[in-house]
Amino acid sequence: MKNLNVETVLDVHHWNDKLFSFKTTRHQSLKFRNGEFVMIGLPQDEKPIVRAYSIASPNYEDHLEFFSIKVPNGALTSKLQHLEKGSQIVVSKKPTGTLVIDDLKPGKRLFLFATGTGLAPFLSIIQDPDTFEKFDQVILCHGVRHVSELAYKEFIEHELKAHPYIGEMIQQHLTYFPTVTREDFPTQGRITEHLSNGSLFTLLNMAPLDPETDRAMICGNPEMLKDISELLNQAGFEISPKTGIQGDYVIERAFVD
Ligand SMILES: Cc1cc2nc3c(=O)[nH]c(=O)nc-3n(C[C@H](O)[C@H](O)[C@H](O)COP(=O)(O)OP(=O)(O)OC[C@H]3O[C@@H](n4cnc5c(N)ncnc54)[C@H](O)[C@@H]3O)c2cc1C
Ligand SMILES: NC(=O)c1ccc[n+]([C@@H]2O[C@H](COP(=O)([O-])OP(=O)(O)OC[C@H]3O[C@@H](n4cnc5c(N)ncnc54)[C@H](OP(=O)(O)O)[C@@H]3O)[C@@H](O)[C@H]2O)c1
Repeated sequence: MKNLNVETVLDVHHWNDKLFSFKTTRHQSLKFRNGEFVMIGLPQDEKPIVRAYSIASPNYEDHLEFFSIKVPNGALTSKLQHLEKGSQIVVSKKPTGTLVIDDLKPGKRLFLFATGTGLAPFLSIIQDPDTFEKFDQVILCHGVRHVSELAYKEFIEHELKAHPYIGEMIQQHLTYFPTVTREDFPTQGRITEHLSNGSLFTLLNMAPLDPETDRAMICGNPEMLKDISELLNQAGFEISPKTGIQGDYVIERAFVD
Protein backbone atom coordinates (compact mmCIF):
# COMPACT_ATOMS: atom_id res chain seq x y z
CA MET A 1 0.00 0.00 0.00
CA LYS A 2 2.96 2.34 -0.47
CA ASN A 3 1.16 4.42 -3.12
CA LEU A 4 -1.88 4.88 -0.91
CA ASN A 5 -2.70 7.08 2.08
CA VAL A 6 -5.23 5.95 4.67
CA GLU A 7 -7.96 8.53 5.33
CA THR A 8 -10.79 8.62 7.86
CA VAL A 9 -14.42 9.22 6.88
CA LEU A 10 -15.77 12.41 8.46
CA ASP A 11 -19.32 12.42 7.10
CA VAL A 12 -21.61 10.37 4.83
CA HIS A 13 -24.74 11.58 3.01
CA HIS A 14 -27.09 9.26 1.09
CA TRP A 15 -29.01 11.04 -1.69
CA ASN A 16 -31.12 8.01 -2.58
CA ASP A 17 -30.71 4.24 -3.01
CA LYS A 18 -28.22 4.75 -5.87
CA LEU A 19 -26.08 7.72 -4.87
CA PHE A 20 -24.13 8.89 -1.86
CA SER A 21 -21.39 11.35 -0.94
CA PHE A 22 -18.76 11.24 1.74
CA LYS A 23 -16.04 13.44 3.18
CA THR A 24 -12.69 12.24 4.46
CA THR A 25 -9.57 13.64 6.05
CA ARG A 26 -6.94 14.83 3.54
CA HIS A 27 -3.27 13.99 3.87
CA GLN A 28 -1.20 17.20 3.93
CA SER A 29 0.99 15.96 1.10
CA LEU A 30 -1.94 15.42 -1.33
CA LYS A 31 -1.88 18.19 -3.93
CA PHE A 32 -4.31 18.24 -6.86
CA ARG A 33 -5.76 20.43 -9.57
CA ASN A 34 -9.53 20.92 -9.41
CA GLY A 35 -11.16 18.40 -11.77
CA GLU A 36 -8.59 15.62 -11.18
CA PHE A 37 -9.28 12.12 -9.88
CA VAL A 38 -7.62 9.69 -7.47
CA MET A 39 -7.91 5.93 -6.97
CA ILE A 40 -9.77 4.96 -3.81
CA GLY A 41 -10.48 1.68 -2.05
CA LEU A 42 -11.03 -0.03 1.28
CA PRO A 43 -7.97 -0.80 3.42
CA GLN A 44 -9.14 -4.12 4.92
CA ASP A 45 -7.88 -6.21 2.03
CA GLU A 46 -4.15 -6.86 1.65
CA LYS A 47 -4.39 -5.78 -1.98
CA PRO A 48 -7.32 -3.33 -1.97
CA ILE A 49 -9.65 -3.10 -4.96
CA VAL A 50 -9.30 0.50 -6.08
CA ARG A 51 -11.44 2.54 -8.48
CA ALA A 52 -11.07 5.98 -10.06
CA TYR A 53 -12.94 8.78 -8.26
CA SER A 54 -13.09 12.46 -9.11
CA ILE A 55 -12.41 14.72 -6.16
CA ALA A 56 -15.60 16.75 -5.68
CA SER A 57 -14.17 19.18 -3.13
CA PRO A 58 -11.98 22.13 -4.18
CA ASN A 59 -8.22 21.95 -3.57
CA TYR A 60 -8.22 24.67 -0.90
CA GLU A 61 -10.34 22.59 1.53
CA ASP A 62 -8.73 20.56 4.33
CA HIS A 63 -10.95 17.57 3.62
CA LEU A 64 -11.72 15.47 0.51
CA GLU A 65 -15.23 14.88 -0.80
CA PHE A 66 -16.41 12.14 -3.16
CA PHE A 67 -19.75 11.62 -4.92
CA SER A 68 -20.45 7.95 -5.59
CA ILE A 69 -22.73 5.55 -7.34
CA LYS A 70 -23.88 2.39 -5.52
CA VAL A 71 -23.59 -0.50 -8.00
CA PRO A 72 -25.51 -3.40 -6.34
CA ASN A 73 -22.88 -6.04 -7.19
CA GLY A 74 -20.02 -3.65 -7.81
CA ALA A 75 -16.69 -4.95 -6.52
CA LEU A 76 -16.00 -1.71 -4.64
CA THR A 77 -19.27 0.17 -4.23
CA SER A 78 -21.27 -2.79 -2.85
CA LYS A 79 -18.97 -2.35 0.20
CA LEU A 80 -18.16 1.36 -0.06
CA GLN A 81 -21.84 2.29 0.29
CA HIS A 82 -21.70 1.04 3.90
CA LEU A 83 -19.06 3.57 4.96
CA GLU A 84 -19.78 5.33 8.23
CA LYS A 85 -18.25 8.22 10.12
CA GLY A 86 -14.90 6.88 11.42
CA SER A 87 -14.47 4.23 8.66
CA GLN A 88 -11.20 4.23 6.75
CA ILE A 89 -10.51 4.34 3.02
CA VAL A 90 -7.30 4.38 0.99
CA VAL A 91 -6.56 7.19 -1.45
CA SER A 92 -3.81 7.16 -4.10
CA LYS A 93 -1.03 9.68 -3.61
CA LYS A 94 -0.91 10.93 -7.20
CA PRO A 95 -4.06 12.62 -8.53
CA THR A 96 -4.33 12.89 -12.30
CA GLY A 97 -6.84 13.64 -15.06
CA THR A 98 -7.60 15.70 -18.12
CA LEU A 99 -10.64 17.67 -16.86
CA VAL A 100 -8.63 20.74 -15.91
CA ILE A 101 -9.19 24.38 -16.91
CA ASP A 102 -5.46 24.79 -17.64
CA ASP A 103 -6.03 22.74 -20.79
CA LEU A 104 -8.69 25.11 -22.14
CA LYS A 105 -7.84 28.05 -24.38
CA PRO A 106 -8.92 31.44 -23.01
CA GLY A 107 -12.62 32.12 -23.60
CA LYS A 108 -15.68 33.93 -22.31
CA ARG A 109 -18.19 31.18 -21.50
CA LEU A 110 -17.42 27.78 -19.98
CA PHE A 111 -19.97 24.98 -20.46
CA LEU A 112 -19.73 22.05 -18.03
CA PHE A 113 -21.71 19.05 -19.32
CA ALA A 114 -22.31 16.21 -16.81
CA THR A 115 -24.57 13.21 -16.40
CA GLY A 116 -25.01 11.24 -13.16
CA THR A 117 -21.91 11.13 -10.96
CA GLY A 118 -20.04 12.88 -13.78
CA LEU A 119 -21.02 16.01 -11.83
CA ALA A 120 -18.23 15.26 -9.30
CA PRO A 121 -15.23 16.96 -10.97
CA PHE A 122 -17.35 20.00 -11.82
CA LEU A 123 -18.26 20.50 -8.16
CA SER A 124 -14.58 21.12 -7.54
CA ILE A 125 -14.23 23.31 -10.65
CA ILE A 126 -17.18 25.57 -9.78
CA GLN A 127 -15.69 26.18 -6.34
CA ASP A 128 -12.37 27.28 -7.83
CA PRO A 129 -11.98 31.09 -8.00
CA ASP A 130 -9.60 30.64 -10.98
CA THR A 131 -12.54 29.30 -13.01
CA PHE A 132 -14.32 32.64 -12.62
CA GLU A 133 -11.17 34.63 -13.26
CA LYS A 134 -10.72 32.79 -16.54
CA PHE A 135 -14.39 32.83 -17.67
CA ASP A 136 -17.14 35.49 -17.45
CA GLN A 137 -19.91 32.92 -17.43
CA VAL A 138 -19.94 29.28 -16.30
CA ILE A 139 -22.91 27.13 -17.31
CA LEU A 140 -23.24 23.85 -15.41
CA CYS A 141 -25.57 21.33 -17.10
CA HIS A 142 -26.47 18.19 -15.13
CA GLY A 143 -28.52 15.45 -16.79
CA VAL A 144 -30.06 12.63 -14.73
CA ARG A 145 -32.83 10.08 -15.08
CA HIS A 146 -34.81 10.89 -11.91
CA VAL A 147 -35.29 14.06 -9.85
CA SER A 148 -33.78 12.41 -6.76
CA GLU A 149 -30.51 12.02 -8.70
CA LEU A 150 -30.10 15.81 -8.89
CA ALA A 151 -27.62 15.62 -6.04
CA TYR A 152 -26.11 18.92 -4.86
CA LYS A 153 -29.01 20.93 -6.38
CA GLU A 154 -29.68 22.71 -3.09
CA PHE A 155 -25.95 23.22 -2.53
CA ILE A 156 -25.46 24.77 -5.98
CA GLU A 157 -28.63 26.87 -5.99
CA HIS A 158 -28.48 28.15 -2.41
CA GLU A 159 -25.54 27.19 -0.17
CA LEU A 160 -22.78 28.11 -2.62
CA LYS A 161 -24.28 31.56 -3.17
CA ALA A 162 -23.81 32.26 0.54
CA HIS A 163 -20.22 30.91 0.58
CA PRO A 164 -17.94 33.49 2.24
CA TYR A 165 -15.09 32.97 -0.24
CA ILE A 166 -16.73 32.38 -3.62
CA GLY A 167 -20.43 33.21 -3.00
CA GLU A 168 -20.37 36.47 -4.92
CA MET A 169 -18.67 34.91 -7.96
CA ILE A 170 -21.24 32.11 -7.95
CA GLN A 171 -24.16 34.57 -7.77
CA GLN A 172 -22.85 36.64 -10.65
CA HIS A 173 -21.21 34.13 -12.95
CA LEU A 174 -22.66 30.62 -12.46
CA THR A 175 -25.77 29.34 -14.27
CA TYR A 176 -27.11 25.93 -13.28
CA PHE A 177 -29.13 23.88 -15.78
CA PRO A 178 -30.47 20.60 -14.31
CA THR A 179 -32.43 18.34 -16.65
CA VAL A 180 -34.31 15.07 -16.02
CA THR A 181 -35.07 12.37 -18.60
CA ARG A 182 -37.49 9.91 -16.98
CA GLU A 183 -39.71 11.96 -14.68
CA ASP A 184 -41.62 15.24 -14.71
CA PHE A 185 -39.42 18.24 -14.06
CA PRO A 186 -39.43 21.84 -15.33
CA THR A 187 -36.51 21.03 -17.68
CA GLN A 188 -36.79 17.61 -19.26
CA GLY A 189 -34.75 15.69 -21.83
CA ARG A 190 -31.14 14.78 -22.53
CA ILE A 191 -28.48 17.48 -22.56
CA THR A 192 -27.75 16.49 -26.17
CA GLU A 193 -31.37 17.29 -27.11
CA HIS A 194 -31.19 20.68 -25.39
CA LEU A 195 -28.02 21.39 -27.33
CA SER A 196 -29.13 20.21 -30.74
CA ASN A 197 -32.60 21.80 -30.68
CA GLY A 198 -31.23 24.98 -29.11
CA SER A 199 -33.55 24.86 -26.07
CA LEU A 200 -30.58 25.20 -23.71
CA PHE A 201 -29.88 28.64 -25.15
CA THR A 202 -33.52 29.71 -25.50
CA LEU A 203 -34.39 28.71 -21.93
CA LEU A 204 -31.30 30.46 -20.53
CA ASN A 205 -31.72 33.42 -22.87
CA MET A 206 -28.18 33.00 -24.20
CA ALA A 207 -26.45 33.14 -27.56
CA PRO A 208 -25.87 29.75 -29.22
CA LEU A 209 -22.49 27.95 -29.07
CA ASP A 210 -19.58 29.82 -30.60
CA PRO A 211 -16.13 28.20 -30.80
CA GLU A 212 -14.51 31.65 -30.82
CA THR A 213 -15.68 32.45 -27.28
CA ASP A 214 -17.00 29.23 -25.72
CA ARG A 215 -15.11 26.41 -24.00
CA ALA A 216 -16.46 23.13 -22.63
CA MET A 217 -15.75 20.17 -20.36
CA ILE A 218 -17.66 16.87 -20.53
CA CYS A 219 -17.97 14.10 -17.92
CA GLY A 220 -20.27 11.15 -17.35
CA ASN A 221 -22.03 8.49 -19.39
CA PRO A 222 -19.56 7.37 -22.13
CA GLU A 223 -22.25 7.58 -24.87
CA MET A 224 -23.11 11.13 -23.81
CA LEU A 225 -19.42 11.96 -23.89
CA LYS A 226 -19.22 10.74 -27.49
CA ASP A 227 -22.43 12.46 -28.57
CA ILE A 228 -21.59 15.86 -27.06
CA SER A 229 -18.05 15.66 -28.50
CA GLU A 230 -19.60 15.10 -31.94
CA LEU A 231 -21.96 18.07 -31.50
CA LEU A 232 -19.05 20.27 -30.46
CA ASN A 233 -16.86 19.05 -33.32
CA GLN A 234 -19.66 19.82 -35.80
CA ALA A 235 -19.91 23.32 -34.32
CA GLY A 236 -16.19 23.86 -35.02
CA PHE A 237 -14.72 23.13 -31.57
CA GLU A 238 -11.35 21.37 -31.26
CA ILE A 239 -10.63 18.97 -28.43
CA SER A 240 -7.48 19.31 -26.29
CA PRO A 241 -5.41 16.45 -27.75
CA LYS A 242 -3.60 15.63 -24.51
CA THR A 243 -2.65 16.94 -21.08
CA GLY A 244 -0.74 20.18 -21.33
CA ILE A 245 -2.05 21.14 -24.78
CA GLN A 246 -4.95 23.57 -24.77
CA GLY A 247 -8.12 23.02 -26.77
CA ASP A 248 -11.66 24.37 -27.01
CA TYR A 249 -12.93 21.47 -24.89
CA VAL A 250 -11.70 18.62 -22.66
CA ILE A 251 -13.03 15.19 -21.71
CA GLU A 252 -11.82 12.64 -19.15
CA ARG A 253 -9.42 10.60 -21.26
CA ALA A 254 -9.17 7.79 -18.67
CA PHE A 255 -12.58 6.83 -20.03
CA VAL A 256 -11.81 6.60 -23.70
CA ASP A 257 -8.12 5.65 -24.02
C1 LIG B 1 -11.59 8.79 -14.39
C2 LIG B 1 -12.78 8.19 -13.69
C3 LIG B 1 -13.39 8.90 -12.66
C4 LIG B 1 -14.49 8.34 -11.99
N1 LIG B 1 -15.08 9.07 -11.00
C5 LIG B 1 -16.16 8.57 -10.36
C6 LIG B 1 -16.83 9.32 -9.35
O1 LIG B 1 -16.45 10.45 -9.02
N2 LIG B 1 -17.91 8.76 -8.76
C7 LIG B 1 -18.36 7.52 -9.10
O2 LIG B 1 -19.34 7.05 -8.53
N3 LIG B 1 -17.74 6.80 -10.05
C8 LIG B 1 -16.64 7.28 -10.67
N4 LIG B 1 -16.01 6.53 -11.63
C9 LIG B 1 -16.42 5.13 -11.77
C10 LIG B 1 -15.71 4.29 -10.66
O3 LIG B 1 -14.32 4.21 -10.97
C11 LIG B 1 -16.26 2.87 -10.47
O4 LIG B 1 -16.57 2.28 -11.68
C12 LIG B 1 -17.48 2.86 -9.58
O5 LIG B 1 -17.11 3.29 -8.29
C13 LIG B 1 -18.10 1.49 -9.44
O6 LIG B 1 -17.13 0.60 -8.92
P1 LIG B 1 -17.51 -0.91 -8.60
O7 LIG B 1 -16.23 -1.66 -8.36
O8 LIG B 1 -18.52 -0.97 -7.52
O9 LIG B 1 -18.18 -1.42 -9.92
P2 LIG B 1 -17.50 -1.59 -11.35
O10 LIG B 1 -17.18 -3.03 -11.55
O11 LIG B 1 -16.37 -0.60 -11.51
O12 LIG B 1 -18.68 -1.12 -12.30
C14 LIG B 1 -19.78 -1.95 -12.58
C15 LIG B 1 -20.66 -1.26 -13.60
O13 LIG B 1 -21.37 -0.20 -12.97
C16 LIG B 1 -21.57 0.90 -13.85
N5 LIG B 1 -20.98 2.11 -13.24
C17 LIG B 1 -19.76 2.23 -12.67
N6 LIG B 1 -19.58 3.47 -12.18
C18 LIG B 1 -20.72 4.15 -12.46
C19 LIG B 1 -21.13 5.47 -12.19
N7 LIG B 1 -20.34 6.34 -11.52
N8 LIG B 1 -22.35 5.84 -12.60
C20 LIG B 1 -23.15 4.98 -13.26
N9 LIG B 1 -22.81 3.72 -13.53
C21 LIG B 1 -21.61 3.30 -13.14
C22 LIG B 1 -20.88 0.55 -15.14
O14 LIG B 1 -21.84 0.03 -16.03
C23 LIG B 1 -19.90 -0.54 -14.74
O15 LIG B 1 -19.62 -1.39 -15.78
C24 LIG B 1 -14.95 7.07 -12.33
C25 LIG B 1 -14.31 6.35 -13.35
C26 LIG B 1 -13.25 6.91 -14.04
C27 LIG B 1 -12.56 6.12 -15.12
N1 LIG C 1 -13.97 11.93 -13.93
C1 LIG C 1 -14.74 11.08 -14.60
O1 LIG C 1 -14.42 10.73 -15.71
C2 LIG C 1 -16.03 10.56 -13.98
C3 LIG C 1 -16.49 11.02 -12.76
C4 LIG C 1 -17.70 10.53 -12.26
C5 LIG C 1 -18.41 9.58 -13.00
N2 LIG C 1 -17.94 9.15 -14.17
C6 LIG C 1 -18.72 8.20 -15.02
O2 LIG C 1 -19.96 8.78 -15.26
C7 LIG C 1 -20.89 7.79 -15.65
C8 LIG C 1 -22.19 8.10 -14.94
O3 LIG C 1 -23.17 7.40 -15.59
P1 LIG C 1 -24.59 8.09 -15.63
O4 LIG C 1 -25.14 8.09 -14.26
O5 LIG C 1 -24.51 9.36 -16.40
O6 LIG C 1 -25.40 7.09 -16.48
P2 LIG C 1 -26.88 7.03 -16.76
O7 LIG C 1 -27.61 6.79 -15.50
O8 LIG C 1 -26.89 6.05 -17.85
O9 LIG C 1 -27.35 8.42 -17.37
C9 LIG C 1 -27.72 9.57 -16.67
C10 LIG C 1 -28.35 10.52 -17.64
O10 LIG C 1 -27.59 10.58 -18.86
C11 LIG C 1 -28.48 10.47 -19.96
N3 LIG C 1 -27.82 9.92 -21.14
C12 LIG C 1 -27.54 8.62 -21.40
N4 LIG C 1 -26.95 8.51 -22.59
C13 LIG C 1 -26.87 9.77 -23.10
C14 LIG C 1 -26.38 10.30 -24.31
N5 LIG C 1 -25.84 9.52 -25.25
N6 LIG C 1 -26.46 11.62 -24.49
C15 LIG C 1 -27.01 12.43 -23.57
N7 LIG C 1 -27.50 11.99 -22.41
C16 LIG C 1 -27.44 10.66 -22.17
C17 LIG C 1 -29.58 9.59 -19.46
O11 LIG C 1 -30.74 9.79 -20.28
P3 LIG C 1 -31.80 8.59 -20.62
O12 LIG C 1 -32.67 8.42 -19.42
O13 LIG C 1 -32.54 9.14 -21.81
O14 LIG C 1 -31.00 7.37 -20.95
C18 LIG C 1 -29.75 10.09 -18.05
O15 LIG C 1 -30.57 11.22 -17.99
C19 LIG C 1 -20.27 6.46 -15.29
O16 LIG C 1 -19.92 5.78 -16.46
C20 LIG C 1 -19.05 6.85 -14.44
O17 LIG C 1 -18.05 5.89 -14.49
C21 LIG C 1 -16.78 9.65 -14.68
